[in-house]
Amino acid sequence: MKIIDGKAIAAQVRAEVAERAAEVARARGFPPGLAVVLVGQNPASVSYVTAKERACAECGIRSFPARLPEETSQAELLALVARLAADSEVDGILVQLPLPKHIDATAVIAAIPPSKDVDGFHPASLGALVAGLPGFVPCTPAGIVELLMRTGHDPDGKDVVVVGRSNIVGKPVAALLSRKGRGGNATVTLCHTGTPNLADHTRRADILIVAAGRPGTVGAGMVKDGAVVIDVGVNRIPDATRKRGFRLAGDVDFDAVAPRCSAITPVPGGVGPMTIAMLMRNTVIAATGMRDY
Ligand code: GUN
Repeated sequence: MKIIDGKAIAAQVRAEVAERAAEVARARGFPPGLAVVLVGQNPASVSYVTAKERACAECGIRSFPARLPEETSQAELLALVARLAADSEVDGILVQLPLPKHIDATAVIAAIPPSKDVDGFHPASLGALVAGLPGFVPCTPAGIVELLMRTGHDPDGKDVVVVGRSNIVGKPVAALLSRKGRGGNATVTLCHTGTPNLADHTRRADILIVAAGRPGTVGAGMVKDGAVVIDVGVNRIPDATRKRGFRLAGDVDFDAVAPRCSAITPVPGGVGPMTIAMLMRNTVIAATGMRDY
C-alpha cells in the first residue's frame, strides 16, 4: 500500500506554476493576479483563504485580499465583484464559500466573468466541462485527476466510483473523469445519499473517490483489494488533546481501509494541497489564455 503524498505533488505543481507566472510577469510587466474574497470569519474558510494567499506568494502570483464583514450585503459584494471583474491586474476572482446565509451564492458566482472564474463554479464553466469545451475546471476535481496521473493511476478504462454529488467536487469530478482525453475516459458511477446499498458500488471501484462530507462514509469491507482510494473529506473532529481543539479526518476510515488499497490519500496532506495548487494553475491559465493548456 502506498500513501499518496499530495503535499509533495502539490509542491511540484506550484513550482511549475511559479515558472509560468514568472514568464507572464516578464512578458507583460506585471504578474498574474488573484483576488481572494472572504466574507465573515468562518474558521475553516479563514484557514483556506490564508493558505491560498500563502500559495500565491510562493508562486509569484499577486493576491488581492478582500476581507469583508459578515454583515456585508449582497449588493456590496456584487459591487466588489464588478470592480474586480473590471480590474485588468486581476486575472482570477475567488469568492470563498460558504457565504453568509443572507447572500445568494449562486448570484455572486454568476457575477464573476467566466474568463476570471478560476474556481470553475460559474454555470458557464460547469457547462463547458460537461460539453468538453475549454473552460476552467474546478480545483478539487482537477487536483484529483492530477494526483492520479502523477502517481501512475491513469483513470482511462477504469471503473471509478464517486461518492457525493456536490457541485464543487462530486458532479464535476464525475464529468471530468468520464470526458474523452487525458485524465478521463473512465467508466464513472456517481453515488449519493439516494443510493441504496452504497457498498455494492464502492466494492466494484478500481478508483474510489469519496467526497461525501461525512466521516466514516467508507469503512472496511467497502473497498476492493488493490483499489486506489481518494479521500476528499475534510472533517473537523473535536479533540481536546490538540492545541487547536480538533483534528482533521477524511470521509474514509483510513486505518481500516488503507491495508487493502494499492494507494490511498491521507487527510490532511492528500487532496487539500492539490486543490490550492490547481487554483494557482488556473490563475496562470487566466493570465495567459486557455489555449496554452
Ligand atoms: N469552499 C470549499 N471549497 C472551496 C473552493 O474550492 N473554493 C471556494 N471558493 N470555496 C470553497
